[in-house]
Amino acid sequence: MSLQTPWYKNAIFYEVNVRAYKDSNGDGHGDLQGLIQKLDYLKDLGVDCLWLMPIYHSPLKDDGYDISDYYNIQETFGDISDFKLLINEAHQRGIRIITDLVMNHTSDQHPWFQASRSSKDSPFRDYYVWSDDNTKYDLTRIIFLDTEESNWTFDEKTGQYYWHRFYSSQPDLNFDNPNVRQAMKDIMKFWLDMGIDGFRADAVPYLFEREGTINENLPETHTYLKEIRAYLDENYPDRILLAEANQWPKDVLAYFGDGDEFHMGFHFPIMPRIYMSLRKQDRESLVWIMRQTPDIPDNCQWCTFLRNHDELTLEMVTEEERQWMWKEYAPNPRMRLNLGIRRRLAPLLENNPNKIHLANAILFALPGTPIIYYGDEIGMGDNIWLDDRNGVRTPMQWDDSKNAGFSSANPENLYAPVIQDETFGYTKINVENQINNPLSLLNFMKKLIYLRKNNLTFSLGDFQWLNITDPAIVAFSRSYQNETMVAINNLSDQVKSVQTSLDGVNGKPLDLWSTMPLPNSEDGQINLTLQPNQFVWLKYTSSQ
Ligand code: NOJ
Repeated sequence: MSLQTPWYKNAIFYEVNVRAYKDSNGDGHGDLQGLIQKLDYLKDLGVDCLWLMPIYHSPLKDDGYDISDYYNIQETFGDISDFKLLINEAHQRGIRIITDLVMNHTSDQHPWFQASRSSKDSPFRDYYVWSDDNTKYDLTRIIFLDTEESNWTFDEKTGQYYWHRFYSSQPDLNFDNPNVRQAMKDIMKFWLDMGIDGFRADAVPYLFEREGTINENLPETHTYLKEIRAYLDENYPDRILLAEANQWPKDVLAYFGDGDEFHMGFHFPIMPRIYMSLRKQDRESLVWIMRQTPDIPDNCQWCTFLRNHDELTLEMVTEEERQWMWKEYAPNPRMRLNLGIRRRLAPLLENNPNKIHLANAILFALPGTPIIYYGDEIGMGDNIWLDDRNGVRTPMQWDDSKNAGFSSANPENLYAPVIQDETFGYTKINVENQINNPLSLLNFMKKLIYLRKNNLTFSLGDFQWLNITDPAIVAFSRSYQNETMVAINNLSDQVKSVQTSLDGVNGKPLDLWSTMPLPNSEDGQINLTLQPNQFVWLKYTSSQ
């Protein structure tokens, strides 16, 4: 890798729900010591950076995204010394760790809010956004549509409304207050000094409010975020900020600034379009979103994913597409939540290995750094009958012993039941079963990760569509220096023969998966046959 390549551009990220990962002390909750025990597994998988979901003190009304103390770790996870050990052990294995930075709101149990709501004269009153008028900011959408009727909640004590973009138990902080802006920097400093490698910054579009706007992506928000970045660069070089801005790519572009705001930003709308293309056996929606995806500054990178801990969000699709996605992927109304689908990757793709491989292969070959959601590397199932988004946050399935090897607690004491159904139950789907099976999803993912990381072109290369008439074939190239990678994916259930040609390449390409030269293909002519849902990665190297 070239010396100048920032680490996050050629990395594989992995999202860990610590509560769900491994319970080291038998209390039924995953914890930091448990995660430490599993670092070798993650290293073996090839993961470079873990994103930990919130582990701070919280009443858990939003699974930790409602923080009541930013400086302490929830007891069930362990304590600060466990956290330091985790960082140390991860770093020794070459694994980085980023944590959630929840800036937009706190829990209503946070002492700032307790003080703020206690009286209009409280010095903390202005830490939050209060109003006599609950029609203020009425152009603002509601995000948690299934539970919240308004972004304002009336507080009896002082007779005013407070502002919240998420649950009413998550009051929004007031970023017009310089003390709030400083407090967030202090929190960052605390965790950065402990050695973390950066933050996944939660819900960043919503920091400021201005009348007459939709209260998303405001210029004031960008100014503050740039301030944070400058602070990071000055004091903690090589650490990163990853933006959670569930927006259209043209709007996420602003979060990269001129390379002086976020290092990375999630690319939300690619995700549903991979599912759409697969089900329609037609690349059109994927092509469309890639065309909407602007170039980003050189030192920035998209972060791409197939699933995460939330519902599969359908915010970045049209109403018609959303209805179609719900019909196809969430036929049971229980599978729907807010504007999304509360299911995991493997059940969404009917546990069809070829489709699961293909979805991952498309993701890994597209521009951006891929992030894997824990458990999806073994094809874990979900439990749609659990509340909220908890159905995709069930215990990691390590083996077929009690509680899937996750915990020694009595099953009734687990924070959530393990998956037990016929298809996805832990006796069938678990790490131990898959680790020694060369045909398992886990070993497929390992190879995918390996190939992706060892071919820098996938991380840095320019992107171009290949000209193929058949809409069921998604084909594109990535080019970097003297190398061109070609990914050809068959979305259909039919065998397809593919002929196309490529300019500027010589000789026979190498088929990366078989490590054999591709027959019948020379000097840019490609002739091959793809089985249903098969994909190939071809590598051309020209001598310079
Ligand atoms: C986005 C997080 O991914 C989600 O889980 C959370 O509920 C909201 N932000 C509010 O923090």
